[in-house]
Amino acid sequence: MCGIVGYVGEEQALPVLLDGLRRLEYRGYDSAGLAVQAAGGAVTLTKRSGRVEALARAVAAGNGLFSSARTGIAHTRWATHGRPSEENAHPHADEAATVAVVHNGIIENHHALRDELVARGHTFRSQTDSEVVAHLVEEALAGAAGTDPGGCLRAAVTNTCRRLHGSYALAVLWQGAPGVIVGVRHQTPLVVGWTAAGMLLASDVAALLPYTHEVLPLQDGELVVLRTSGAQLYAADGGPLPAPRPTRVQWDLPAAERGGFAHFMLKEIHEQPQALAEALRGRLGPRGPVLPELEACADAVRAAGRAVLVACGTAHHAALVGRRLLERSAALPAEADIASEFRYRDPFVARGDLAIAVSQSGETADTLAALREAGARGAHTLAVVNVVDSAIARAAQVALYTQAGPEIAVASTKAYTTQIAVLALAAVHAGRLRGALDAQALAAWSADLARLPEWAQAALMLEPRIADLAERLARANHCFFLGRGLDWATAMEGQLKLKEVSYLHAEAYAAGELKHGTLALIEAGTPVVAVFTQPELAAKTASNVAEVKARGARVLGVATASLAAIAEPLCDDLVCLPEVPALLSPVIAAIPLQLLAYHTAVARGTDVDKPRNLAKSVTVE
Ligand code: G6P
Repeated sequence: MCGIVGYVGEEQALPVLLDGLRRLEYRGYDSAGLAVQAAGGAVTLTKRSGRVEALARAVAAGNGLFSSARTGIAHTRWATHGRPSEENAHPHADEAATVAVVHNGIIENHHALRDELVARGHTFRSQTDSEVVAHLVEEALAGAAGTDPGGCLRAAVTNTCRRLHGSYALAVLWQGAPGVIVGVRHQTPLVVGWTAAGMLLASDVAALLPYTHEVLPLQDGELVVLRTSGAQLYAADGGPLPAPRPTRVQWDLPAAERGGFAHFMLKEIHEQPQALAEALRGRLGPRGPVLPELEACADAVRAAGRAVLVACGTAHHAALVGRRLLERSAALPAEADIASEFRYRDPFVARGDLAIAVSQSGETADTLAALREAGARGAHTLAVVNVVDSAIARAAQVALYTQAGPEIAVASTKAYTTQIAVLALAAVHAGRLRGALDAQALAAWSADLARLPEWAQAALMLEPRIADLAERLARANHCFFLGRGLDWATAMEGQLKLKEVSYLHAEAYAAGELKHGTLALIEAGTPVVAVFTQPELAAKTASNVAEVKARGARVLGVATASLAAIAEPLCDDLVCLPEVPALLSPVIAAIPLQLLAYHTAVARGTDVDKPRNLAKSVTVE
């Protein structure tokens, strides 16, 4: 996601801010900006679209203000609301630039707050959700005066946070409080750092390490007031907290970038509860899921006779799940096609069909071409994309963003599960538009989707057991994955993950299909992973697993709690998933298979984050 750096102290702020931004570059970003404060309090902002180096050049060419400032905040933005551009880059300010704000996270109620602020005469410069914070703080400070300007700013930020729904880490400067930064954390990380000559604030320890190893991660709801002399902590209700005590981090820079995880892939697997929460943020109403973007094509969704989903790789497996979700929830006949096949098969597309591209990067050449092909043949085009304003997002008539944050490991994990979550939101919203779901079903969908982060967290608890099982799998040459229905899609994703990071040969089969040829490859000790999450299919899958078991396969079952009794007699090993509604199980069942692939790869000593021959974004056909 985005990155925050702040500094207040005796040294020049600018080099610290730029250095911090460079150390946050690995997180992915599309624009950068900073605000410095002169000794008298005046705040100056500079922003640039593109690289931190462009920002560094801009401030180098600027006036002496930048080099003399001892207080400042800075930001790298990874777009979620509003395209990547200079005007949407942070910091954001009120009209007169008395207040400067950098923000990580998503303000869910920004539309309502913006309307309210505009009605009171505020003028907005950006399309971001974040800008409302600058205007709210400025309003809260109106008329503030007295002997404690830092206290005024703190109170204004506390009052502003009461108005915000969503997730946020904020750093705020005010011209009335020279030498003060107020930071606050709600569901998005923010870390304070101590140095001999001042205080630091960052969204990520990586930005602090050159200056200090003495840090304190803020807890949810905590607010910090930073001055050269130190930090004071406050609770969400404004009450003071005991003096903060830093802890010592031992990480070096690469370890800090990975959040202490051994690889980005593992970090991203563990980020899934948070990524799912962000994907769903602001989109689950009590009367059912709402994707405001879909309203823009409500008539097309109502009238559609068919949907075709196009994607590559992992995104194609999400599309396989999306197909079923659309059929079941929106009563919309749907197909999922491999983008590189679709574009060259002279596809039948009727005017008014929906074409849905699914892509993490939004840049995959085949997916982009397939979407354009469908559009040219009269389809209404949508895209489920992670990277805002990417080529596929721009090519589609409507972009539905997954909001998963940047994915760095080549093997896709959190992008996959959030793609399914957004496809579920879209399918259910379409179901409402098409009259396929009643009020009770819509409310049940909201309740179920809201639990995805919690279920993902429960699935992550399986890691120690899976790491043990991976030790054995790492010594095999082949592995087969079986499942029926949506469990087949899960099996497909499980085998792809295993192949791409461990280089172990793996294949996935619709469980009923194995006996038509591939069963010949099963011999004593062949590893088979069988997925059981679909109640109406579990007994059928069990029969197929019995067939491989009878030929000596060693079976690892992955089953939801209620199906464990069916799976257990056939499995040498069994891992139990939380009980999840069948249509959402692919999100949760993917997690143990991602962990299995990861730990098998580690046991085999491969380059997990950059597997041989593979690229994160494939922009050639
Ligand atoms: C590459 C990546 C895969 C990804 C696929 C589609 O092959 O290595 O992880 O699933 O492209 O990428 P997209 O960005 O369109 O989801």
